[in-house]
Amino acid sequence: MASGSGSNFEALVQACRGGHLHAEVALLVVNNPGCGAQARAERLGVPWQLHDHRTQPSREQLDQALVKAFRGAAVDVVVMAGWMRVVTPTLIGAFAERLVNIHPSLLPSFRGLDAVGQALAAGVTLTGCTAHLVCEEVDAGRILVQAAVPVLSDDDHASLSARIQRQEHRILPLAVALTAQQLGEPG
Ligand code: GRF
Repeated sequence: MASGSGSNFEALVQACRGGHLHAEVALLVVNNPGCGAQARAERLGVPWQLHDHRTQPSREQLDQALVKAFRGAAVDVVVMAGWMRVVTPTLIGAFAERLVNIHPSLLPSFRGLDAVGQALAAGVTLTGCTAHLVCEEVDAGRILVQAAVPVLSDDDHASLSARIQRQEHRILPLAVALTAQQLGEPG
């Protein structure tokens, strides 16, 4: 699931194709027509679908359409790889323990929008990224993998975002592997 540039989506595809993640990205869904993620899917030959939230009467109906799409593609794990919409219990419940989000801070610090801006405003010298399971409270589900990233004195939003994203691309495949492994464990 992606709304923007799709660099995390591509990192997952490359991790699979490079043999680092024993999985396949079966489907990309985007909510913004023409977004970077869609272009990446076309270039990489990954099936994609547009589910534009503007054409759905409610968050629940958008999530119902997503659940149907994921079930149709027989997916085991769903990844919110830069999905800029709040999701509902409709999606969370359908993929309990198998819905993963990537967030650009060391949670529980800097939840919500613009975590990079929040870190810069707070003046922290260390931030990072977190891959976690999704629950109803935003950016609050069980943490799977984190990476710490230094904030340098001359950082601006773009430079810090880029440094964090390099770590996101590394930890997101690890989090997907961990999620799949935990699903396979008894009890
Ligand atoms: C990532 O930084 C992620 O943490 C946030 O949205 C951004 C998506 O970037 N949730 P991209 O579309 O994967 O390049």
